[in-house]
Amino acid sequence: MIFDKANELDKNDPLKDFQGLFTKPSNLIYLDGNSLGMLPKITSKRMEQVINDEWGQELIGSWNKNWLELNKRVENKLGQIINADAQEIFVGDSTSINLYKLAKALMQSKKYQKNFVTDNLNFPSDRYILSGIADYDNITYQEIIFDDLGEANLPKIEHSFKNHPGIYCFSLTTYLSAYLYPVKKINRLAKKFNSIVIWDFSHAIGAVEIDVKQQEILAAVGCTYKHLNGGPGAPGFLFVEKETNKSMLTPIQGWFGHSKTFDFADEYQKGAGSKQYKVGTPNILSLAAMECGLDITLEATVSTIRSKNLTMAKFVQDYIQDELKIFGVEVFGPTNELSRGGHLTVTHSENWRICKALQEIAAPKIITDFRPDSFMRIAFTPLYTSYEELAYFLNSLKNILETKSYLSIDSSRPEVT
Ligand SMILES: Cc1ncc(COP(=O)(O)O)c(C=O)c1O
Repeated sequence: MIFDKANELDKNDPLKDFQGLFTKPSNLIYLDGNSLGMLPKITSKRMEQVINDEWGQELIGSWNKNWLELNKRVENKLGQIINADAQEIFVGDSTSINLYKLAKALMQSKKYQKNFVTDNLNFPSDRYILSGIADYDNITYQEIIFDDLGEANLPKIEHSFKNHPGIYCFSLTTYLSAYLYPVKKINRLAKKFNSIVIWDFSHAIGAVEIDVKQQEILAAVGCTYKHLNGGPGAPGFLFVEKETNKSMLTPIQGWFGHSKTFDFADEYQKGAGSKQYKVGTPNILSLAAMECGLDITLEATVSTIRSKNLTMAKFVQDYIQDELKIFGVEVFGPTNELSRGGHLTVTHSENWRICKALQEIAAPKIITDFRPDSFMRIAFTPLYTSYEELAYFLNSLKNILETKSYLSIDSSRPEVT
């Protein structure tokens, strides 16, 4: 029954041809949630070209011939995905480093009170970075604490803006439950109380529609190795709206951020727009790999991706409700799929062993991911996942729960889960 429904949905899937653009290992269903997107087939060819031709043959000449242009092109393409101008985007470094630069540069602008605020739904690295700056620079750092880690409580956020105006940071889609903040509403509240929000797009970009102009977003950071399929350790990015950027100064004044990098001037002069956030030599190999992922997303369009993601979420959630709830599986966080980003999280006291059973017992092997203490994240990545794969997953999960086969799995945990 679930397979019939899946086959019908697959037949009408506007993205079905995109699955062939990815390297899909046989006998594996990949629903990782989402720490690393799949490898686009074209990326391997592109890497050979950059390594063998551009680096191997052209050597230093490739900077002028290919690589400076590559950097600009990628910034342009990333800008298209979030409706930002190219001069508002910097691509490079990691999300964490970009957050450091942006938070310090906003502090330096003197437009906001020196008070960092985030919440306990945010990714740990963001919280470490902000509290680290606060320790060094002797400014205040606070976290809004939500008892329910599944979703934010808006009155609590409003109360915080009112009482602690300053520089805020939230993950647009949270890493644990994929809760999606009402971004425009929060930006308007921030403005009303002389605050600014740095949005972390890491789990959102490529999965949900982002329009920085329409959503009145002034500052953001993010990564490209999740829903943009840029590859392991792919470059992060930073967005800062052009008027906001005028009064900002990067805390890391590297030569690539200088207005005239190759003049080798004695004095630092910040580059125009987002150029000031460049620090050192761009990571050409990872930029080239990442561009392949960006191209696929641009071709598919994020609105089509999001629309399939919502149908997939309903497909899975309905089955959990009807067939798996009796085994103790609960949806964690928002139950309305419109308030969730690209993945669904479920709780079960044995989720670690269940995740392992999906990999070790199920055939085909199924990769989801586990977050302590009892969370299983299931990503719906419409570019490379079929409804039939979701049906296999649900069927296997039911089987494991029904037979309690997870009890035979040992509970040791490796470093990366
Ligand atoms: C929401 C979020 N923010 C920040 C990070 C840290 O990113 P990076 O390792 O690129 O600094 C991650 C990593 O997965 C993340 O998921």
